[in-house]
Amino acid sequence: MTHTPIIALLESDKIHQEFTVKGWVRSFRGNQFIALNDGSTINNLQCVVDFENTDEALLKRITTGAAVAIKGTLEESQGGGQRIEIKVKDIQIEGDADPQELKNTILSPKRHTLEKLREQAHLRVRTNTFGAVMRLRSKLSFAIHEYFNKNGYFHAHTPIITGSDAEGAGEMFRVSALDPENPPRTEDGKIDYSKDFFGKETNLTVSGQLEGETYALGLGKIYTFGPTFRAENSNTSRHLAEFWMVEPEMAFCDLDGNMDLAEDFIKYVINYALENCQDDLEFLENRLIQEDKSKPEADRAPMPLREKLSFIVDNNFKRVSYTEAIDILRNSKPNKKKKFKYPINEWGADLQSEHERYLVEKHFNCPVILFDYPANIKAFYMRLNEDGKTVRAMDVLFPGIGEMVGGSQREERLDVLKEKMAALDISEEELSWYLDTRKFGTCTHSGFGLGFERLVLFVTGMTNIRDVIPYPRFPGHAEF
Ligand code: 4AD
Ligand code: MG
Repeated sequence: MTHTPIIALLESDKIHQEFTVKGWVRSFRGNQFIALNDGSTINNLQCVVDFENTDEALLKRITTGAAVAIKGTLEESQGGGQRIEIKVKDIQIEGDADPQELKNTILSPKRHTLEKLREQAHLRVRTNTFGAVMRLRSKLSFAIHEYFNKNGYFHAHTPIITGSDAEGAGEMFRVSALDPENPPRTEDGKIDYSKDFFGKETNLTVSGQLEGETYALGLGKIYTFGPTFRAENSNTSRHLAEFWMVEPEMAFCDLDGNMDLAEDFIKYVINYALENCQDDLEFLENRLIQEDKSKPEADRAPMPLREKLSFIVDNNFKRVSYTEAIDILRNSKPNKKKKFKYPINEWGADLQSEHERYLVEKHFNCPVILFDYPANIKAFYMRLNEDGKTVRAMDVLFPGIGEMVGGSQREERLDVLKEKMAALDISEEELSWYLDTRKFGTCTHSGFGLGFERLVLFVTGMTNIRDVIPYPRFPGHAEF
């Protein structure tokens, strides 16, 4: 028995024709009206049961949450709420949902907090909010692949298990097959990783960049899109321990080209969502409007969700050097009134999220690309500028999100790169394969990483990153 997705039926004009639909009961009103949802769209299909001619025992089993298969004809709806409905001829219960037990879950028909929904993340995708978020997440993922494919980039699969720390920040999850109770030890008592599965220390990747660079320096333009892992103890609404990163890398491309790509790419995927996810965006927009009603004026969103997204697509990102940004911050009201937790006194300070947010949300009021950061607050692989103290780094900052993208032009000069590594005590031997790319046909190249969940956060208007990934991992939490 084939069945038709509800999204197709809602647009269908095949009146009086027979269809089969399968989905989960959202509600059953007056022993007559089933609101059925199958996940294909936020919208429910109304199915009208002829209760007088339906077995009483069967009617009792049509409960919220139950999985049902319905056969019936498509008819124009008499009621006001919908254009069409299904006149039920036959209904089969595939899976019951006991109302007594369901009462204790987030599927019960009342408002639940996002925190509560997170505790039952295995069921939350059946709610309107999470259905909308996860459909958007999927569409955005597709748009990313579409963008790069259309623009001549190859998708490179970089390894998840690596022996290197791409960011040099040491925030890695170790991968080991040794017996933790009784690991082999060297003569001086240390754990002997040469006896481990890979014969060396390995970890989950923090970024596919270094391997991505080697592929760009052969295929020209590549991108990676995969899971990355960070063992940083950040308990914020912007950080996950496991998140997905999109990382394009281009040979023969400088920082300006890199900024152009980041801006064009982000606009493309946001526009894709606007054009292809109308219903879900409308739902999420209304959800935010409802939420805002209980907030003080100052905390409310400055514009409705879709307007906010259109604004991004239609306006240029503001490009500002780190040095200019420091001047703006130093002279800003919150700095002078000592409102920043980390006051900006001098050039060289690392920017905290309060500073990024001030620049984006108060000063410029649009996405900002900051570039040419001080060398000593950025990673070893970024290209040193002629001034000897800044590097060709860029961060794309978004309103309400902060850093969405981090990237740079890469240091392509072997001698400069080696000096940098030596200064930071990064082993040449460990990265000899990376250095080889600078020995044999090195060239100008650039790339960036976009945190996928931060993009989904922005597009859906959700406020916590834990609510835009199916099963969030963060300190103390790896359920499911
Ligand atoms: O700025 P990051 O650390 O840059 C890199 O990893 C580079 N190797 C990327 C490259 O040039 N190919 O991370 C890139 C982006 C950040 O801008 C942020 O959006 C996201 O990844 N990100 C996180 N997202 C969620 N949770 C975390 N803990 C994140 N850390 C970084
Ligand atoms: Mg960064």
